[in-house]
Order: sequence, then structure tokens, then C-alpha cells
Amino acid sequence: MDRNLALEFVRVTEGAAIGAARWTGRGEKNAADDAAVTAMRNCFNSIDFCGKIIIGEGEMDEAPMLYIGETVGRGQSGQKKIEIACDPLEGTSITAKGGSEAIAVIAAAEEGGFLHAPDMYMNKIAVGPAAKGRIDITKSISWNLKAVAEGLKKNVQDLMVIILDRPRHAEIIQECRTLGTRIRLIGDGDVSAAVATAQADSGIDILLGIGGAPEGVISAAALRCLGGDMQGQLIYTTEAEKDRCGKMGISDLNKVYQLDDLARGNVMFIATGVTNGSFLRGVRFNGSGAVTHSIVMRSESGTIREIHTKHHFAYKPRHGW
Ligand code: FBP
Repeated sequence: MDRNLALEFVRVTEGAAIGAARWTGRGEKNAADDAAVTAMRNCFNSIDFCGKIIIGEGEMDEAPMLYIGETVGRGQSGQKKIEIACDPLEGTSITAKGGSEAIAVIAAAEEGGFLHAPDMYMNKIAVGPAAKGRIDITKSISWNLKAVAEGLKKNVQDLMVIILDRPRHAEIIQECRTLGTRIRLIGDGDVSAAVATAQADSGIDILLGIGGAPEGVISAAALRCLGGDMQGQLIYTTEAEKDRCGKMGISDLNKVYQLDDLARGNVMFIATGVTNGSFLRGVRFNGSGAVTHSIVMRSESGTIREIHTKHHFAYKPRHGW
């Protein structure tokens, strides 16, 4: 995969982030999402590459743009296909409320690189490099916390676990509390949470619990670049979800997905902050333009770039920002 694509894709997440950021705190999560989706699609289509959306806004019949299977980019048909897993606005409710950790995000891989995860739930465990190889989603929460603590050379009580604040996580939270582990409960945004586990100064050691499966694949791409680890298991709540899995080629409904099953080969992860967060600053408008903060990572080289960009809207009238 051409390494320069990673830099091209920053324009895409920057565009989506600026589009969504206009809606910060305005209580309209769908409008924020629409703005991000439209901007992301337009930016994709200004790049010379042949992309195929593997994870996007949903099935073709439910999403008009960035639907699963849509081709993006203005490359020639003979060009190598790049698989795209994107979430134009990860944290729609966060943005609508003006909260923290909303991002615009893309992961890219060569053909066959991503699990074609349906839009359903996934149970996840994610950790940073020091705890790689020390997680097992089939074992208890206590087993995992002790193993991770050992890897990090910490007491279990010193760990910081990040969990989506949902009633479905009551048992996990109780088990952590019984062990005396510290917890950060978050309202939304488990991609940022997964990334945080692999960032030394984030103070977050492990992500536990059930979130979106598409977000799981995008998180796996980030952890591949950062040297972290992750496991996931799809969660079925309806027969329709089982059918959908069948259509997407998933036959083993109980499979434990290892990091490389979720995102394999050379992958890239690119994100821009929409609102302020632990690893990215949100979009700041300044009258004539905006400043964005992005991260660009490649698994092949392990390079991590942070990019602060000053955008001048007068020079970009076609974007309509
Ligand atoms: P949106 O950006 O679609 O609002 O998703 C945010 C999110 O919190 C994800 O980070 C997470 O994986 C998922 O929703 C959890 O789903 P639910 O809100 O149904 O528990």
C-alpha cells in the first residue's frame, strides 16, 4: 500500500472533522453525522486511489453514502483496491452534547485486510504493548485483570479500566470493583478508549466490554500500528443479525477474533479530533478558517505522526465550511 496514502487520508478526516465540528453542542447528532459523512465522501473522491468501503455508514439500502461496498476515490479500475473502514463521526452523541473524545476516523488495508464486521455488537478487550499476549476473552474479567497487571508490573488495584457506561456492563463493573480496580466509565467513544490503552501517558490500561463491531475493527487497526493487542467476539441479539453474519461470510458465530483476524497485513489508521480528547484536540474555528489536530499511523513502519493543520476557508470555497 502506497505510504503516501496515509497523508492523503488526513485531508479526509480533517474534512469530516471540520464538517461535524460545526454542530458541536447543538443537540443534533444526525446533522453532525451527515456533515461528517458528506465531507468525508467528497474528500475521498478527490484522491487518486481505488477504495472500497468495508465498514462505513451501513448497508447500501440504509445509507446513501459511504455504504458497505461503495467504491470511493478517483483512481483507475486497474489500480490495487484499498479496503476502507471508516467512521466519519465516532461519537455522534458526544458531538451533539459538546462532550469530549469525538473523532473522525479512517482505517485502510490491502484487500482482505479487515474483518467484514456487520453493524452489531462486539465484546472487546484491548490493551497496550506491555500487556500484549496477556488477554483471553474466554476467561474471567479477574483473570484478565491479573494477567494485564502482571504484564504492566502493577498491582491490580493500580490498573485503570475503561468501560462504556451501559447497564449491560453491570457485572463487569462489579467484578472490577470487587478486585479494587479503578474504572473510568465513558458515555461513548470506544475507539478513542481503545487507542488510549496503547498510549503510555493516557493513564488507561485496558478496555473492557461490549461496543460496536465496526468500531472494533477500526480500533484493531490502531492497535496494530501501536503494538497493542485486542480480542473480540460478536454478540448476537436477534435472528436477523445471525442472518446478516451469514451473508457477510461469517459462519462461526462464537469465534474469538484475535487482533490479526480483525485487521491484518499493512494497515493505516488516521483520525482527526472533532472535540477535545485525550489524544487529539478538537477543531478550533478562528473566523477565517480552522485548526485541526490529527494522528496518522502505519503498521508497516510503526511511524506515528501528529499533524496540526491551519485551514483557510477562503481558499477552499468548494468545501462550503
Ligand atoms: P456513535 O458515534 O454512532 O454514536 O457511536 C458511539 C459509540 O459509543 C461507539 O464508540 C461504541 O462502539 C458504540 O457507540 C456503543 O453502542 P451503544 O451506544 O449502542 O452502546
